[in-house]
Amino acid sequence: MQRNAEKNTIAVLDFGSQYSHLIVRRMRELGVYAELLSPETPSEKLQEFSAIVLSGGPQNLSASDALQADPKLYALGIPMLGICYGFQLMAHQLGGEVRAGKTREYGPACVTVATRSPLFKGLPRSEPTWMSHGDQVTRVPNGFKITARSEVCPIAAMEDRKRRLFGIQFHPEVKHTTHGMKVLQNFVRITGAKHTWRLGKDWIDKTVADVRAQVGMGRALCALSGGVDSTVAAYLTHRAIGKKLTCVYVDTGLMRQGETEQIKRTFAKLPKLDFRVVHAEREFLKALKGVTDPEQKRKVIGRLFVRLFEREQTKLRRTDFLVQGTLYTDAITSGVSVGGKAAVIKSHHNVGGLPKDVAFRLIEPLRDLYKDEVRLLGRSLGVPEEIVSRQPFPGPGLAVRIIGEVTKEKLATLRKADAIFREELIVAGKAKQVAQYFAVLPDIRSVGVQGDARTYGHLIILRAITTADFMTADWARLPHTLLARASARITNEVAGINRVAYDITSKPPGTVEWE
Ligand code: XMP
Repeated sequence: MQRNAEKNTIAVLDFGSQYSHLIVRRMRELGVYAELLSPETPSEKLQEFSAIVLSGGPQNLSASDALQADPKLYALGIPMLGICYGFQLMAHQLGGEVRAGKTREYGPACVTVATRSPLFKGLPRSEPTWMSHGDQVTRVPNGFKITARSEVCPIAAMEDRKRRLFGIQFHPEVKHTTHGMKVLQNFVRITGAKHTWRLGKDWIDKTVADVRAQVGMGRALCALSGGVDSTVAAYLTHRAIGKKLTCVYVDTGLMRQGETEQIKRTFAKLPKLDFRVVHAEREFLKALKGVTDPEQKRKVIGRLFVRLFEREQTKLRRTDFLVQGTLYTDAITSGVSVGGKAAVIKSHHNVGGLPKDVAFRLIEPLRDLYKDEVRLLGRSLGVPEEIVSRQPFPGPGLAVRIIGEVTKEKLATLRKADAIFREELIVAGKAKQVAQYFAVLPDIRSVGVQGDARTYGHLIILRAITTADFMTADWARLPHTLLARASARITNEVAGINRVAYDITSKPPGTVEWE
């Protein structure tokens, strides 16, 4: 916990908006540390914060179970910003009025703002914003002034400047609100919070010292996936305890081309590290034999992974700690949006998903950080760029990109096609513009003609997506020349493939992976 003692942290109360984490990230981008907290956090606890943001949320205030904030918050004398549902809640709890609007407002909306408001200082009078609401504030509480309106919403913002209480109907944290960052910056200025949050040498030194103290005379084990989170966590822990750290990488045989070699190269650079590779391709293929159901596949892989890990654990004596690359987004379950009633779409498996009953105490040096912060940290720790900027890769690996039974031959085919697509995308300079890109091998054959002869070959599907958070995604509009090159190379260079298709499905209704 890096909260600093000078009351320099902003609390974001999470009422379940899909953008709650984004508010925290934006504050940190502005150099002010922020944390996401439960919407019902009592006012006594919130006293230690420099400001409070009430996030948006999916509920209507008219519902009998609508979430409320502790009403005593408003008397703390701490600056507050209510966003969307948070704005309506502030109005409601302070005696204003909120009603269902005649027209809902979803998506872009132009708002006219009072530029003399300290929150809107430096903004043009007419501001393109992002709205997502059905209810509206119809009367502001005593002491408040209306500071913005849109065509649909006559009260789109309010303020009580004296008490430093502000509310806005639109979402400043999303990119569609053109000057949203400026609004948040203005709010930070109003709060007087200092811009002291940096992931620099001080943070690293303190975290390294904490890990060293935590491990003491003991030893730690880190399960590496080859991804950025577990690698950065391992680098940081290695800096703290050096040879007392053992890193285990399970080569499942389900990795992409060159991945195992890459991780070996990366860790060979760390002096005195006990680095072990568990070669388990045969075991994984055996366990996956005859398994075609996607959920079953995920479960088989997850279970075997844990078994192999436990086997390594018994070989190591006096190892009391397990290092995990848990991130803030994984760790935090404060809001209503997290956990609970969400439908299970897929049983995600990753190294961080080891069972709770493994006999270790946890070291989670990244648990206050977001992915982009971890990438920055990785760079300053000297983690190779190919790992720092690596796109996400699912724990079950290529097994969820092969539809039907997984075999050694299919893995080899997919690995080759995937490597070609990745290579072409990188050469075309598109890698930074898409969040994830890969090949899929479905269980389909089709008739083709190659070298004047009839073929009855397999299909490769290419998928590339753009996304901010992987909860929703759009298919990437890649140049046709790039797709054409990838298609020609795959059909020429990968034996058995006579057709290539490009997936043009967004999420929803699809998901990123095919299984
Ligand atoms: P879906 O397919 O659920 O994928 O839309 C969203 C993101 O999650 C990744 N993914 C996984 N990551 N373990 C992981 O660590 C998994 O089991 C898993 N399944 C999907 C996927 O690659 C995408 O980035």
